Amino acid sequence: MNTFTGAGERVTNVAMVIFGVTGDLTRRKLMPALYELCKAGQLPDSFSIIGFARREWSDEDLKSNMREALRSHNPEAELVEKLLKDARFVRSTFDDLQGYQNLKQLLQEIGAVNVLLYLATPPENYIDIIYNLKASQLNLSERGWVRIVIEKPYGRDMATAQVLEDAVHDAFDEKQVYRIDHYLGKETVQNILIFRFANGLFEPLWNYRYVDHVQITVAETEGVGTRSGYYETAGVIRDVFQNHMLQLLSLTAMEVPVTFNADAVRDEKVKVLKSLRPLKGRDALENTFRAQYVSGMINEKRVPGYKDEKGVSPKSVTETYLAARVYVDNWRWAGVPFYLRSGKCLPSRVTEVVIQFKQAPLSLFNLQDFAGDAPNMLILNLQPKEQIILRFGAKVPGPANRIAPVAMVFSYQDHFCQQTQDAYERLILDSILGDATLFTRSDEVYAQWAFTCGILDAWQTNPVQYLPVYEAGTWGPPGADEFIQRDGRTWHTIEVATGCS
Ligand code: BG6
Repeated sequence: MNTFTGAGERVTNVAMVIFGVTGDLTRRKLMPALYELCKAGQLPDSFSIIGFARREWSDEDLKSNMREALRSHNPEAELVEKLLKDARFVRSTFDDLQGYQNLKQLLQEIGAVNVLLYLATPPENYIDIIYNLKASQLNLSERGWVRIVIEKPYGRDMATAQVLEDAVHDAFDEKQVYRIDHYLGKETVQNILIFRFANGLFEPLWNYRYVDHVQITVAETEGVGTRSGYYETAGVIRDVFQNHMLQLLSLTAMEVPVTFNADAVRDEKVKVLKSLRPLKGRDALENTFRAQYVSGMINEKRVPGYKDEKGVSPKSVTETYLAARVYVDNWRWAGVPFYLRSGKCLPSRVTEVVIQFKQAPLSLFNLQDFAGDAPNMLILNLQPKEQIILRFGAKVPGPANRIAPVAMVFSYQDHFCQQTQDAYERLILDSILGDATLFTRSDEVYAQWAFTCGILDAWQTNPVQYLPVYEAGTWGPPGADEFIQRDGRTWHTIEVATGCS
Protein backbone atom coordinates (compact mmCIF):
# COMPACT_ATOMS: atom_id res chain seq x y z
CA MET A 1 0.00 0.00 0.00
CA ASN A 2 1.21 3.49 -0.73
CA THR A 3 -0.05 6.44 1.21
CA PHE A 4 0.99 9.93 0.22
CA THR A 5 0.48 13.34 1.80
CA GLY A 6 -0.85 16.28 -0.22
CA ALA A 7 2.79 17.33 -0.68
CA GLY A 8 3.56 13.97 -2.27
CA GLU A 9 5.52 12.54 0.65
CA ARG A 10 5.14 8.83 1.24
CA VAL A 11 3.94 7.89 4.73
CA THR A 12 5.05 4.54 6.09
CA ASN A 13 5.68 2.93 9.41
CA VAL A 14 2.81 4.22 11.49
CA ALA A 15 1.68 2.93 14.86
CA MET A 16 -1.79 3.98 15.92
CA VAL A 17 -2.07 3.79 19.69
CA ILE A 18 -5.69 3.64 20.79
CA PHE A 19 -6.20 4.61 24.42
CA GLY A 20 -9.43 3.03 25.58
CA VAL A 21 -9.31 0.35 22.91
CA THR A 22 -11.79 -1.78 24.86
CA GLY A 23 -14.50 0.87 24.57
CA ASP A 24 -17.48 1.49 22.41
CA LEU A 25 -15.93 4.07 20.09
CA THR A 26 -13.19 1.67 18.98
CA ARG A 27 -15.71 -1.05 18.27
CA ARG A 28 -18.36 1.05 16.56
CA LYS A 29 -16.28 3.61 14.69
CA LEU A 30 -12.52 3.21 14.69
CA MET A 31 -12.21 -0.45 13.73
CA PRO A 32 -14.76 -0.31 10.88
CA ALA A 33 -13.05 2.83 9.58
CA LEU A 34 -9.61 1.20 9.74
CA TYR A 35 -10.95 -1.86 7.98
CA GLU A 36 -12.42 0.26 5.17
CA LEU A 37 -9.15 2.18 4.81
CA CYS A 38 -7.28 -1.10 4.66
CA LYS A 39 -9.67 -2.41 2.04
CA ALA A 40 -9.25 0.73 -0.04
CA GLY A 41 -5.46 0.38 0.19
CA GLN A 42 -5.23 3.72 1.99
CA LEU A 43 -3.35 2.67 5.09
CA PRO A 44 0.40 3.14 5.06
CA ASP A 45 2.85 0.28 4.69
CA SER A 46 3.81 -1.10 8.11
CA PHE A 47 0.73 0.06 9.96
CA SER A 48 0.16 -1.36 13.42
CA ILE A 49 -2.63 -0.95 15.89
CA ILE A 50 -1.62 -0.77 19.53
CA GLY A 51 -4.35 -1.01 22.10
CA PHE A 52 -3.83 0.60 25.51
CA ALA A 53 -6.37 -0.09 28.26
CA ARG A 54 -6.87 -1.44 31.76
CA ARG A 55 -8.49 -4.72 30.83
CA GLU A 56 -6.52 -7.95 31.21
CA TRP A 57 -6.09 -8.64 27.53
CA SER A 58 -3.25 -10.28 25.67
CA ASP A 59 -2.31 -9.41 22.08
CA GLU A 60 -4.48 -12.34 21.01
CA ASP A 61 -7.46 -11.08 23.05
CA LEU A 62 -7.14 -7.72 21.38
CA LYS A 63 -7.17 -9.34 17.95
CA SER A 64 -10.13 -11.58 18.64
CA ASN A 65 -12.13 -8.69 20.10
CA MET A 66 -11.37 -6.54 17.08
CA ARG A 67 -12.35 -9.39 14.74
CA GLU A 68 -15.59 -9.59 16.64
CA ALA A 69 -16.10 -5.83 16.35
CA LEU A 70 -15.81 -6.13 12.58
CA ARG A 71 -18.07 -9.15 12.20
CA SER A 72 -21.26 -7.20 11.49
CA HIS A 73 -19.49 -5.48 8.55
CA ASN A 74 -19.15 -8.73 6.64
CA PRO A 75 -15.44 -8.27 6.29
CA GLU A 76 -13.07 -10.23 4.06
CA ALA A 77 -11.17 -12.47 6.48
CA GLU A 78 -7.88 -11.98 4.69
CA LEU A 79 -8.06 -8.21 5.00
CA VAL A 80 -8.96 -8.41 8.67
CA GLU A 81 -5.89 -10.54 9.30
CA LYS A 82 -3.75 -8.12 7.35
CA LEU A 83 -5.05 -5.22 9.44
CA LEU A 84 -4.52 -7.04 12.73
CA LYS A 85 -1.27 -8.78 11.85
CA ASP A 86 0.93 -6.49 13.95
CA ALA A 87 -1.66 -5.50 16.55
CA ARG A 88 -0.35 -5.37 20.11
CA PHE A 89 -1.85 -4.66 23.50
CA VAL A 90 -0.43 -2.71 26.42
CA ARG A 91 -2.22 -3.31 29.67
CA SER A 92 -2.21 -0.35 32.02
CA THR A 93 -4.36 2.09 33.89
CA PHE A 94 -4.23 5.58 32.45
CA ASP A 95 -2.48 7.06 35.46
CA ASP A 96 0.34 4.55 35.71
CA LEU A 97 3.58 5.90 34.25
CA GLN A 98 4.97 2.37 33.96
CA GLY A 99 2.34 1.56 31.31
CA TYR A 100 3.58 4.45 29.18
CA GLN A 101 7.15 3.33 29.58
CA ASN A 102 6.09 -0.12 28.42
CA LEU A 103 4.37 1.49 25.47
CA LYS A 104 7.50 3.42 24.62
CA GLN A 105 9.57 0.28 24.70
CA LEU A 106 7.08 -1.53 22.50
CA LEU A 107 7.14 1.29 19.95
CA GLN A 108 10.93 1.03 19.84
CA GLU A 109 10.80 -2.74 19.53
CA ILE A 110 8.46 -2.65 16.54
CA GLY A 111 10.45 0.18 14.97
CA ALA A 112 7.52 2.62 14.72
CA VAL A 113 8.67 5.84 13.10
CA ASN A 114 5.39 7.79 13.21
CA VAL A 115 2.96 7.58 16.08
CA LEU A 116 -0.70 8.52 16.15
CA LEU A 117 -1.99 8.72 19.72
CA TYR A 118 -5.76 8.38 19.70
CA LEU A 119 -7.71 9.24 22.86
CA ALA A 120 -10.84 7.10 22.70
CA THR A 121 -11.37 7.09 26.46
CA PRO A 122 -13.92 8.95 28.56
CA PRO A 123 -12.84 12.61 28.72
CA GLU A 124 -12.05 12.41 32.43
CA ASN A 125 -8.96 10.36 31.49
CA TYR A 126 -7.57 12.86 28.98
CA ILE A 127 -5.44 14.90 31.36
CA ASP A 128 -3.88 11.87 33.02
CA ILE A 129 -3.00 10.41 29.65
CA ILE A 130 -1.53 13.62 28.31
CA TYR A 131 0.46 14.18 31.49
CA ASN A 132 1.94 10.68 31.34
CA LEU A 133 2.65 10.90 27.62
CA LYS A 134 4.76 13.92 28.37
CA ALA A 135 6.39 12.38 31.44
CA SER A 136 7.52 9.43 29.35
CA GLN A 137 8.46 11.65 26.39
CA LEU A 138 5.96 9.96 24.14
CA ASN A 139 4.97 13.43 22.96
CA LEU A 140 8.31 13.73 21.18
CA SER A 141 9.37 12.00 18.04
CA GLU A 142 12.85 10.85 17.29
CA ARG A 143 12.60 10.05 13.61
CA GLY A 144 9.14 10.91 12.34
CA TRP A 145 6.06 12.56 13.80
CA VAL A 146 3.85 12.16 16.85
CA ARG A 147 0.25 13.39 16.69
CA ILE A 148 -2.56 13.27 19.18
CA VAL A 149 -6.21 12.86 18.25
CA ILE A 150 -8.70 14.05 20.86
CA GLU A 151 -12.38 13.20 20.77
CA LYS A 152 -15.17 15.49 21.86
CA PRO A 153 -16.33 16.61 24.38
CA TYR A 154 -13.47 19.04 24.59
CA GLY A 155 -14.22 20.37 28.06
CA ARG A 156 -17.70 21.04 29.39
CA ASP A 157 -17.37 24.81 29.57
CA MET A 158 -14.76 27.49 29.04
CA ALA A 159 -12.91 26.80 32.31
CA THR A 160 -12.57 23.05 31.78
CA ALA A 161 -11.67 23.50 28.11
CA GLN A 162 -8.95 25.88 29.25
CA VAL A 163 -7.56 23.34 31.72
CA LEU A 164 -7.49 20.69 29.00
CA GLU A 165 -5.92 23.11 26.53
CA ASP A 166 -3.20 23.98 29.04
CA ALA A 167 -2.40 20.31 29.55
CA VAL A 168 -2.43 19.65 25.79
CA HIS A 169 -0.19 22.59 25.01
CA ASP A 170 2.16 21.79 27.83
CA ALA A 171 2.91 18.52 26.07
CA PHE A 172 2.16 19.11 22.39
CA ASP A 173 2.55 21.74 19.77
CA GLU A 174 -0.77 22.88 18.22
CA LYS A 175 0.45 21.34 14.93
CA GLN A 176 0.45 17.93 16.61
CA VAL A 177 -3.11 18.23 17.88
CA TYR A 178 -6.13 16.86 15.97
CA ARG A 179 -9.42 17.67 17.76
CA ILE A 180 -12.25 15.65 16.32
CA ASP A 181 -15.67 16.93 15.47
CA HIS A 182 -16.83 13.99 13.42
CA TYR A 183 -19.34 16.16 11.52
CA LEU A 184 -16.42 17.67 9.63
CA GLY A 185 -15.49 14.23 8.32
CA LYS A 186 -18.86 13.78 6.64
CA GLU A 187 -18.69 14.08 2.85
CA THR A 188 -21.83 16.14 2.63
CA VAL A 189 -20.66 18.55 5.32
CA GLN A 190 -17.45 19.10 3.36
CA ASN A 191 -19.58 19.55 0.28
CA ILE A 192 -20.99 22.75 1.79
CA LEU A 193 -17.62 24.32 1.00
CA ILE A 194 -17.35 22.79 -2.45
CA PHE A 195 -20.90 23.79 -3.29
CA ARG A 196 -20.29 27.35 -2.15
CA PHE A 197 -16.78 28.00 -3.37
CA ALA A 198 -16.43 25.87 -6.50
CA ASN A 199 -19.58 27.34 -8.03
CA GLY A 200 -20.24 30.94 -8.92
CA LEU A 201 -23.98 30.50 -9.04
CA PHE A 202 -25.12 30.93 -5.46
CA GLU A 203 -22.36 32.92 -3.85
CA PRO A 204 -23.67 36.31 -5.05
CA LEU A 205 -26.98 35.47 -3.35
CA TRP A 206 -25.40 34.14 -0.18
CA ASN A 207 -25.90 37.21 2.03
CA TYR A 208 -28.38 39.49 3.83
CA ARG A 209 -29.61 41.01 0.57
CA TYR A 210 -31.14 37.80 -0.72
CA VAL A 211 -31.35 35.42 2.22
CA ASP A 212 -34.35 35.75 4.51
CA HIS A 213 -33.09 33.29 7.10
CA VAL A 214 -31.18 30.05 7.55
CA GLN A 215 -32.32 26.92 9.38
CA ILE A 216 -29.95 24.27 10.64
CA THR A 217 -31.54 21.08 11.91
CA VAL A 218 -29.94 18.06 13.54
CA ALA A 219 -32.87 15.76 14.28
CA GLU A 220 -32.42 12.31 15.75
CA THR A 221 -34.85 9.48 16.31
CA GLU A 222 -32.67 7.84 18.96
CA GLY A 223 -33.14 8.62 22.63
CA VAL A 224 -30.26 8.79 25.06
CA GLY A 225 -30.34 5.04 25.72
CA THR A 226 -27.36 3.80 27.69
CA ARG A 227 -25.63 7.20 27.62
CA SER A 228 -27.99 8.86 30.09
CA GLY A 229 -25.28 9.33 32.72
CA TYR A 230 -23.25 11.44 30.33
CA TYR A 231 -26.27 13.10 28.77
CA GLU A 232 -27.65 14.33 32.09
CA THR A 233 -24.58 16.52 32.40
CA ALA A 234 -24.53 17.54 28.75
CA GLY A 235 -27.94 18.09 27.17
CA VAL A 236 -28.30 19.11 23.54
CA ILE A 237 -26.28 22.25 24.14
CA ARG A 238 -23.05 20.47 25.05
CA ASP A 239 -23.70 17.32 23.06
CA VAL A 240 -24.31 18.76 19.60
CA PHE A 241 -24.94 22.51 19.72
CA GLN A 242 -21.54 23.68 20.97
CA ASN A 243 -19.76 21.55 18.38
CA HIS A 244 -21.58 20.00 15.39
CA MET A 245 -24.17 22.73 15.01
CA LEU A 246 -21.79 25.65 15.40
CA GLN A 247 -19.49 23.95 12.88
CA LEU A 248 -22.35 23.66 10.39
CA LEU A 249 -23.17 27.30 10.99
CA SER A 250 -19.56 28.40 10.44
CA LEU A 251 -19.26 26.45 7.19
CA THR A 252 -22.51 27.93 5.95
CA ALA A 253 -21.68 31.50 6.94
CA MET A 254 -17.91 31.77 6.42
CA GLU A 255 -16.15 33.88 3.81
CA VAL A 256 -14.11 32.26 1.08
CA PRO A 257 -10.71 31.30 2.52
CA VAL A 258 -7.59 32.71 0.84
CA THR A 259 -6.53 29.18 0.01
CA PHE A 260 -7.81 25.72 0.79
CA ASN A 261 -5.49 24.74 3.58
CA ALA A 262 -6.06 23.95 7.23
CA ASP A 263 -5.24 27.35 8.65
CA ALA A 264 -6.91 29.42 5.98
CA VAL A 265 -10.19 27.50 6.29
CA ARG A 266 -10.09 27.58 10.06
CA ASP A 267 -9.25 31.30 10.10
CA GLU A 268 -12.52 32.00 8.32
CA LYS A 269 -14.55 29.70 10.54
CA VAL A 270 -13.18 31.39 13.64
CA LYS A 271 -14.20 34.79 12.28
CA VAL A 272 -17.80 33.58 12.03
CA LEU A 273 -17.74 32.19 15.54
CA LYS A 274 -16.34 35.47 16.83
CA SER A 275 -19.05 37.40 14.99
CA LEU A 276 -21.87 35.54 16.70
CA ARG A 277 -23.96 38.02 18.62
CA PRO A 278 -23.47 36.96 22.25
CA LEU A 279 -26.52 35.42 23.84
CA LYS A 280 -26.39 36.36 27.48
CA GLY A 281 -28.87 36.95 30.30
CA ARG A 282 -32.35 37.84 29.06
CA ASP A 283 -31.25 37.61 25.39
CA ALA A 284 -30.20 34.02 25.96
CA LEU A 285 -33.53 33.16 27.56
CA GLU A 286 -35.54 34.82 24.81
CA ASN A 287 -33.54 33.34 21.97
CA THR A 288 -33.46 29.73 23.08
CA PHE A 289 -36.19 27.18 23.65
CA ARG A 290 -35.66 23.94 25.56
CA ALA A 291 -37.78 20.85 25.98
CA GLN A 292 -37.59 17.25 27.11
CA TYR A 293 -39.16 14.11 25.62
CA VAL A 294 -41.65 11.91 27.39
CA SER A 295 -42.66 8.44 26.28
CA GLY A 296 -44.12 8.20 22.79
CA MET A 297 -44.14 6.19 19.57
CA ILE A 298 -41.23 6.10 17.14
CA ASN A 299 -41.47 3.83 14.10
CA GLU A 300 -44.55 2.24 15.64
CA LYS A 301 -42.65 1.32 18.79
CA ARG A 302 -43.22 2.83 22.19
CA VAL A 303 -40.05 4.34 23.57
CA PRO A 304 -39.45 5.43 27.17
CA GLY A 305 -39.38 9.07 28.18
CA TYR A 306 -36.14 10.79 29.12
CA LYS A 307 -36.91 10.62 32.83
CA ASP A 308 -37.65 6.88 32.52
CA GLU A 309 -34.05 6.25 31.45
CA LYS A 310 -31.76 4.73 34.05
CA GLY A 311 -29.57 7.36 35.72
CA VAL A 312 -31.81 10.34 34.92
CA SER A 313 -32.99 12.35 37.90
CA PRO A 314 -36.79 12.58 38.28
CA LYS A 315 -36.23 16.33 38.64
CA SER A 316 -33.99 16.59 35.60
CA VAL A 317 -34.21 19.75 33.54
CA THR A 318 -31.65 18.57 30.99
CA GLU A 319 -32.87 19.56 27.54
CA THR A 320 -33.25 16.88 24.88
CA TYR A 321 -34.58 19.49 22.44
CA LEU A 322 -33.09 22.89 21.80
CA ALA A 323 -33.97 25.64 19.39
CA ALA A 324 -31.96 28.82 19.17
CA ARG A 325 -32.11 32.06 17.21
CA VAL A 326 -28.63 33.23 16.42
CA TYR A 327 -27.24 36.23 14.55
CA VAL A 328 -23.90 36.51 12.82
CA ASP A 329 -23.05 40.18 13.22
CA ASN A 330 -20.96 40.86 10.16
CA TRP A 331 -21.58 42.62 6.86
CA ARG A 332 -22.62 39.51 4.99
CA TRP A 333 -25.25 38.35 7.48
CA ALA A 334 -26.47 41.55 9.17
CA GLY A 335 -30.02 41.00 10.38
CA VAL A 336 -30.37 37.44 9.03
CA PRO A 337 -31.55 35.00 11.72
CA PHE A 338 -30.02 31.56 11.86
CA TYR A 339 -32.46 29.17 13.50
CA LEU A 340 -30.79 26.11 14.96
CA ARG A 341 -32.72 23.16 16.33
CA SER A 342 -31.78 19.73 17.47
CA GLY A 343 -33.51 17.03 19.43
CA LYS A 344 -33.54 13.41 20.45
CA CYS A 345 -36.55 11.19 19.81
CA LEU A 346 -37.88 13.26 16.93
CA PRO A 347 -39.93 11.66 14.12
CA SER A 348 -37.07 11.27 11.67
CA ARG A 349 -33.32 11.42 11.48
CA VAL A 350 -32.28 14.34 9.37
CA THR A 351 -29.44 16.82 9.30
CA GLU A 352 -29.95 19.73 6.98
CA VAL A 353 -29.11 23.32 6.28
CA VAL A 354 -31.91 25.29 4.69
CA ILE A 355 -31.28 28.64 3.05
CA GLN A 356 -34.58 30.43 2.68
CA PHE A 357 -34.31 33.21 0.11
CA LYS A 358 -36.36 36.37 0.21
CA GLN A 359 -39.58 36.55 -1.78
CA ALA A 360 -39.68 38.31 -5.12
CA PRO A 361 -39.96 42.07 -4.48
CA LEU A 362 -43.40 42.27 -6.06
CA SER A 363 -45.91 39.50 -6.17
CA LEU A 364 -47.55 39.52 -9.60
CA PHE A 365 -49.55 36.36 -9.23
CA ASN A 366 -50.98 36.80 -5.81
CA LEU A 367 -54.24 38.36 -6.89
CA GLN A 368 -56.47 35.33 -6.54
CA ASP A 369 -56.47 32.66 -3.92
CA PHE A 370 -55.33 30.05 -6.44
CA ALA A 371 -52.05 31.78 -6.95
CA GLY A 372 -49.16 32.62 -4.67
CA ASP A 373 -45.46 32.69 -4.38
CA ALA A 374 -43.63 29.50 -3.64
CA PRO A 375 -40.72 29.85 -1.26
CA ASN A 376 -37.30 29.83 -2.88
CA MET A 377 -35.30 27.50 -0.77
CA LEU A 378 -32.03 25.69 -1.03
CA ILE A 379 -31.86 22.59 1.12
CA LEU A 380 -28.53 20.97 1.83
CA ASN A 381 -29.62 17.61 3.09
CA LEU A 382 -26.57 16.20 4.84
CA GLN A 383 -28.01 12.94 6.13
CA PRO A 384 -29.46 10.40 5.85
CA LYS A 385 -30.55 11.31 2.29
CA GLU A 386 -27.50 13.02 0.94
CA GLN A 387 -28.90 15.51 -1.48
CA ILE A 388 -29.24 19.13 -2.48
CA ILE A 389 -32.70 20.42 -3.31
CA LEU A 390 -33.61 23.72 -4.88
CA ARG A 391 -37.23 24.65 -4.37
CA PHE A 392 -39.04 27.25 -6.40
CA GLY A 393 -42.47 27.95 -7.85
CA ALA A 394 -43.61 26.69 -11.26
CA LYS A 395 -46.74 27.23 -13.25
CA VAL A 396 -49.22 24.42 -12.93
CA PRO A 397 -50.29 23.48 -16.50
CA GLY A 398 -53.66 24.95 -17.37
CA PRO A 399 -55.37 28.20 -18.19
CA ALA A 400 -54.98 29.75 -14.73
CA ASN A 401 -51.78 31.11 -13.28
CA ARG A 402 -51.57 28.56 -10.54
CA ILE A 403 -48.19 28.22 -8.90
CA ALA A 404 -46.94 25.08 -7.23
CA PRO A 405 -43.73 24.49 -5.33
CA VAL A 406 -41.41 22.19 -7.29
CA ALA A 407 -37.91 20.98 -6.73
CA MET A 408 -34.68 20.28 -8.53
CA VAL A 409 -32.90 17.49 -6.73
CA PHE A 410 -29.32 16.33 -6.83
CA SER A 411 -28.80 13.05 -5.02
CA TYR A 412 -25.33 11.88 -4.14
CA GLN A 413 -26.29 8.26 -4.30
CA ASP A 414 -28.05 8.47 -7.67
CA HIS A 415 -25.31 10.51 -9.22
CA PHE A 416 -22.14 8.94 -7.90
CA CYS A 417 -23.59 5.46 -7.40
CA GLN A 418 -21.40 4.79 -4.42
CA GLN A 419 -21.67 4.89 -0.68
CA THR A 420 -20.06 7.94 0.86
CA GLN A 421 -17.14 7.30 3.18
CA ASP A 422 -17.80 7.25 6.90
CA ALA A 423 -16.56 10.36 8.68
CA TYR A 424 -14.05 8.40 10.74
CA GLU A 425 -12.35 6.96 7.65
CA ARG A 426 -11.64 10.42 6.37
CA LEU A 427 -10.56 11.79 9.73
CA ILE A 428 -8.21 8.92 10.58
CA LEU A 429 -6.67 9.13 7.14
CA ASP A 430 -6.21 12.90 7.37
CA SER A 431 -4.58 12.63 10.77
CA ILE A 432 -2.15 10.09 9.33
CA LEU A 433 -1.48 12.36 6.37
CA GLY A 434 -1.07 15.43 8.58
CA ASP A 435 -3.97 17.40 7.14
CA ALA A 436 -5.76 19.24 9.94
CA THR A 437 -8.30 21.08 7.78
CA LEU A 438 -11.18 18.98 9.09
CA PHE A 439 -10.18 19.23 12.74
CA THR A 440 -11.01 22.02 15.17
CA ARG A 441 -8.28 24.42 16.10
CA SER A 442 -7.71 25.70 19.60
CA ASP A 443 -9.17 29.18 18.92
CA GLU A 444 -12.28 27.61 17.36
CA VAL A 445 -12.91 25.59 20.49
CA TYR A 446 -12.59 28.71 22.63
CA ALA A 447 -14.89 30.72 20.38
CA GLN A 448 -17.47 27.92 20.46
CA TRP A 449 -17.36 27.79 24.25
CA ALA A 450 -17.38 31.59 24.61
CA PHE A 451 -20.71 31.71 22.75
CA THR A 452 -22.20 28.60 24.36
CA CYS A 453 -21.24 29.59 27.89
CA GLY A 454 -23.28 32.81 27.60
CA ILE A 455 -26.37 30.63 27.18
CA LEU A 456 -25.33 28.15 29.84
CA ASP A 457 -24.74 30.96 32.35
CA ALA A 458 -28.11 32.49 31.64
CA TRP A 459 -29.83 29.14 32.16
CA GLN A 460 -27.93 28.62 35.36
CA THR A 461 -28.74 32.01 36.82
CA ASN A 462 -32.39 31.63 35.87
CA PRO A 463 -33.10 28.04 36.88
CA VAL A 464 -36.35 26.38 35.87
CA GLN A 465 -38.27 23.71 37.79
CA TYR A 466 -39.31 21.82 34.69
CA LEU A 467 -39.08 22.03 30.93
CA PRO A 468 -41.88 21.86 28.39
CA VAL A 469 -42.28 18.26 27.28
CA TYR A 470 -42.88 16.62 23.91
CA GLU A 471 -43.93 13.12 23.11
CA ALA A 472 -41.18 11.05 21.56
CA GLY A 473 -41.91 10.83 17.86
CA THR A 474 -43.17 14.42 17.53
CA TRP A 475 -41.37 17.56 16.36
CA GLY A 476 -41.27 19.08 19.83
CA PRO A 477 -43.89 20.80 21.97
CA PRO A 478 -46.08 23.65 20.63
CA GLY A 479 -43.55 26.10 22.08
CA ALA A 480 -40.99 24.95 19.50
CA ASP A 481 -43.25 26.08 16.67
CA GLU A 482 -44.23 29.25 18.48
CA PHE A 483 -40.55 30.05 18.94
CA ILE A 484 -40.07 30.56 15.20
CA GLN A 485 -43.63 31.64 14.43
CA ARG A 486 -43.03 34.71 16.60
CA ASP A 487 -40.87 35.93 13.72
CA GLY A 488 -43.50 35.09 11.11
CA ARG A 489 -41.60 31.98 9.98
CA THR A 490 -42.06 28.21 10.27
CA TRP A 491 -39.71 25.27 10.63
CA HIS A 492 -38.93 23.47 7.41
CA THR A 493 -40.72 20.14 7.49
CA ILE A 494 -42.16 19.81 4.03
CA GLU A 495 -41.29 16.72 2.03
CA VAL A 496 -41.14 17.87 -1.55
CA ALA A 497 -42.64 15.65 -4.20
CA THR A 498 -40.36 15.52 -7.21
CA GLY A 499 -42.50 13.60 -9.68
CA CYS A 500 -46.10 13.57 -10.95
CA SER A 501 -48.64 13.22 -8.20
C1 BG6 B 1 -22.47 12.78 18.81
C2 BG6 B 1 -23.41 12.97 19.97
O1 BG6 B 1 -21.40 13.66 18.87
O2 BG6 B 1 -23.18 13.00 17.60
C3 BG6 B 1 -24.60 12.04 19.85
O3 BG6 B 1 -22.72 12.72 21.17
C4 BG6 B 1 -25.28 12.24 18.52
O4 BG6 B 1 -25.54 12.25 20.90
C5 BG6 B 1 -24.27 12.12 17.40
O5 BG6 B 1 -26.27 11.24 18.39
C6 BG6 B 1 -24.88 12.45 16.07
O6 BG6 B 1 -23.97 12.07 15.08
P1 BG6 B 1 -24.47 11.48 13.70
O7 BG6 B 1 -23.22 11.25 12.92
O8 BG6 B 1 -25.22 10.23 14.02
O9 BG6 B 1 -25.36 12.55 13.14
